[in-house]
Amino acid sequence: MSKFSNYNFTGKKALIRVDFNVPLDKATYAITDDTRIKAAIPTIKKILNDGGSVILMSHLGRPKEGPEEKSSLKHVINHLSQLLGGTTVLFANDCIGEQAYLTAGMLRAGEVLLLENLRFYKEEEKGYEAFSEKLSKLGDVYINDAFGTAHRAHASTAVIAKFFTPENRMFGLLMEGEVAAAEKVLLKAEKPFTAIIGGAKVSDKILILENLLERATDIIIG
Ligand code: 3PG
Repeated sequence: MSKFSNYNFTGKKALIRVDFNVPLDKATYAITDDTRIKAAIPTIKKILNDGGSVILMSHLGRPKEGPEEKSSLKHVINHLSQLLGGTTVLFANDCIGEQAYLTAGMLRAGEVLLLENLRFYKEEEKGYEAFSEKLSKLGDVYINDAFGTAHRAHASTAVIAKFFTPENRMFGLLMEGEVAAAEKVLLKAEKPFTAIIGGAKVSDKILILENLLERATDIIIG
């Protein structure tokens, strides 16, 4: 069993970096593709079922000048709540600061708190340690389940891990699954082989690629 699956989250506040960078309708801000949110649900549910609480942090879009309506994670609250079977999702309109700390501090077992967009702070993309440290104070244990953002060395994805002890930092189920899929090809596939690794931009074109690359033995869709 994996580190995450073995971990008992009873009484713990789990700070999870998810990738909720989902497309939104420009006029209504309704989510037009919830794949990434659905992908994080098993990790969240395992923690809640153990008797832990969850603090979710993510980016959304590429805001350049601080807070902006179109990049607010508040647009995700209702749909996330539905996907969690009606669980109330609390929201902090700043990912750090008094409201976030107070709400995280008062979270009880089974409760979920979603933080506002990390990228409203330029420190996130710059990977500033002081910002990572502030985020780290929100949880007892850090989980990285943001596979779609795994290529970014940002404050909440890579730098933050150093503020947790090795036993209290780990991948979530989504990240574990993706690593296992990559290892299957890298370690077990008959060589030579071709692997195409990418996100939505690749999966949109996968049928065309499959036709073109008749000799590819495995295709990984990240
Ligand atoms: C993505 O959509 O590729 C990830 O969420 C990362 O977003 P970014 O390219 O804005 O860093």
